[in-house]
Amino acid sequence: VRGALKEAAGEPLVVRDDLEVGEPKQGEVLVRVSHCGVCHSDLSVQRAPDGPLPAVLGHEAAGIIEACGPATAGYAEGDAVVLSVAPSCGRCVACVRGQHSLCRESRVMLTGTLADGDSRVRRGGQVVYRGAGMGAFAEYVVMPTSAVVRVAPDTPLELACLVGCGVGTGVGAALNTAKVEPGSSVLVFGVGGVGISIVQGARIAGAARIIVSDPVAARRDLAAQFGATDAIDPTTQDVVSEVKRLTRYGTDYAFDAIGRPEVVSTAVAAIRAGGTAVCVGITLDPTVPYTIDSGMMFALQEKVLRGCAYGSNNPHRDIPRYLDLWRAGRLDLESMVTARRPLEQVNDALDDLVAGRGLRTVLDL
Ligand SMILES: NC(=O)c1ccc[n+]([C@@H]2O[C@H](COP(=O)([O-])OP(=O)(O)OC[C@H]3O[C@@H](n4cnc5c(N)ncnc54)[C@H](O)[C@@H]3O)[C@@H](O)[C@H]2O)c1
Ligand SMILES: [Zn+2]
Ligand SMILES: [Zn+2]
Repeated sequence: VRGALKEAAGEPLVVRDDLEVGEPKQGEVLVRVSHCGVCHSDLSVQRAPDGPLPAVLGHEAAGIIEACGPATAGYAEGDAVVLSVAPSCGRCVACVRGQHSLCRESRVMLTGTLADGDSRVRRGGQVVYRGAGMGAFAEYVVMPTSAVVRVAPDTPLELACLVGCGVGTGVGAALNTAKVEPGSSVLVFGVGGVGISIVQGARIAGAARIIVSDPVAARRDLAAQFGATDAIDPTTQDVVSEVKRLTRYGTDYAFDAIGRPEVVSTAVAAIRAGGTAVCVGITLDPTVPYTIDSGMMFALQEKVLRGCAYGSNNPHRDIPRYLDLWRAGRLDLESMVTARRPLEQVNDALDDLVAGRGLRTVLDL
């Protein structure tokens, strides 16, 4: 099996053609990956100084089921599927509370292995880990059905893969996490794949004003095509005073889709009293704290600051829902895929992210 490996921290990925992917076990299916989008989280994992090595990266994928292990009722060979970066088992304490994105199985996705401690991938007899929770920059991946969603056979998988992470996270952040209402005002920091999807979620929810902040002019222009009503250049404008000029009291909602502590502070400052700021971006350095300006005003203004894991999605409910919105012409996936590359160009795809080139690069496997 061909796959792109992180073999050393910060080094370019290496495409190998001699990976061995194991049989699916209880509750698992083997998926022939057809497409995988490249998300900023892959770049973060590639750059991270720690984490088990070697590891196959890639976690925004879709494909066709090749084989089913025992206890996989409802799944069959040949099914078209979107793989979710966050599983939902439906049985754990988080799932029964309705907080599917906090499913106990999702911890497994962060360890580089499946629940039994094995990754199902080897190279020359040596264990290869599942980087970024999945390992889908490879022709085959073994997945627990808790993270596998069947889709209609005619679904274009080169678009649908995005719903497995970036698009699902962004649209879900607006619809599920924040529950944006019609007529509300929304501020989005960082309009890459995730931020643009928040813009789309806010538009679907009927937000009246959608303000974006991004230093890259091309990204701000793109955001307008997806429904942003106003754009701020944070390198030349003061974001909070510009937001107050546009909305008087601040926005109802603000989303950090970058993962920078200073942006989270700005998001809290830019929402109105009673508003909600949502942390979608992920700061990989766990030693960097988030700070908010004034404890007293935060309390008296009843502001809300909350996290967001994968758009608070239940993948089994929300991935079909977002694809229905796409079929209805209300969620634009076509314009989000700005480049398609073969697996061999995976490092160029990561460079696209660094350079802010286009919006999303999809790898064809
Ligand atoms: N919470 C989750 O479940 C979840 C899921 C997927 C991705 N993520 C995270 O979301 C973030 C975004 O991912 P992406 O794939 O969209 O990344 P991306 O690189 O495509 O987009 C990031 C954008 O932020 C902009 N930016 C950088 N600095 C800025 C600043 N100071 N002010 C405003 N904009 C700024 C960049 O120009 C770029 O357009 C990453 O941190 C990623 O790890 C989180
Ligand atoms: Zn992702
Ligand atoms: Zn669960």
